[in-house]
Amino acid sequence: MAAARAAVVCGLGTHLPSRVVTNSDLARELDTSDEWIRSRTGIGQRHIAEDGTATSDLAVEAGQRALKSAATSASTDAVDAVIVATSTPDHSCPATAPAVAARLGLGIVPAFDVAAMCTGFLYGLAVGGGLIAAGTAHSVLVIGADTYSSILDPEDRSTRAIFGDGAGAVVLRAGDPDEPGALGPVILGSDGTGSELIRILSGGSRDPIRPEHTERADPYFRMAGAQVFRNAVERMAEASLEAVARAGWALDDTDVFVAHQANLRIIHAVADQMRLPRSRFPVHLDRVGNTAAASIPLVLADAVTAGALRPGHRTALAAFGGGLTWGAATLTWPDITPV
Ligand code: UT7
Repeated sequence: MAAARAAVVCGLGTHLPSRVVTNSDLARELDTSDEWIRSRTGIGQRHIAEDGTATSDLAVEAGQRALKSAATSASTDAVDAVIVATSTPDHSCPATAPAVAARLGLGIVPAFDVAAMCTGFLYGLAVGGGLIAAGTAHSVLVIGADTYSSILDPEDRSTRAIFGDGAGAVVLRAGDPDEPGALGPVILGSDGTGSELIRILSGGSRDPIRPEHTERADPYFRMAGAQVFRNAVERMAEASLEAVARAGWALDDTDVFVAHQANLRIIHAVADQMRLPRSRFPVHLDRVGNTAAASIPLVLADAVTAGALRPGHRTALAAFGGGLTWGAATLTWPDITPV
């Protein structure tokens, strides 16, 4: 029997739009304050794309950087599949990934989007890993990219305070399950009974926006923040525990927990629920806010740059988002340089 093929992380790239919007900037437009946003979320600023910049623009930048990172750290096969995790595609159809693959010059490759909101990057990793394990692909570019500024209600202080735009990507290659960077168990879940807690009501097939209906349409992202908060804590803690157990690691021997960056209070509550020191959970949201599907690769790159995530570290990833969806995964961190 052929040896099992694992998907190995061999490149990491990120991109943030240059425009920074601070809490004080928001407070000039909305009934909010730097004090409220910092104390309730831990966020100090976010990056917001200029008008005319689409999710694919951010995804292409991050994808290019991940390819460069992979080229410097490993001998890789050419990327032969592209997955874009996003809930803010350039258009309702077609998917954003084929255009991203074409702009990256990757030729005729399978390319498709994964729609699992803030859990999208983990779903994308699972699907990319599956393509490699099945032999369908040898090397997969998995990009998480979102431009939430394009779907937020300008007057909604609770969502504008937390979300920012950005993109992050990894290159997966076929490799050995025991080598650093090999994806371990991936836990995925969803519970559609909570689908109304995070959604855009209008603009889909349930409530198409037609010119004669624009008055009652609601094209903006809506979130029942407090209920989402509670679910996020429960699900990320549970999924992380399951992933670590399935990897055969002791919880205490797991060095770094990279949690989706939605709210610092959520990250701390997950750490507390798991009875782990909060210091094992790197924080990046203070500078970028909640970047949805881009959050995990962005915090990974930031933690590597800060020296908090080093080669050999036993690492757990966890995310939660609309759907409701959630997931967790493990890997031993490889020796790669984020670009
Ligand atoms: O990434 C995908 C999943 N998303 C998440 O995990 C996000 C989870 N939710 C959250 O992070 C928090 O629920 C929020 C940051 C969105 C809101 O914080 P909260 O502590 O749950 O506040 P709340 O929604 O319960 O609202 C409490 C009060 C309300 O005022 P009233 O009705 O009590 O007068 C809100 O209007 O806080 C008010 N509020 C604000 N006040 C000042 C909400 N946002 C703001 C704001 N500035 N930016």
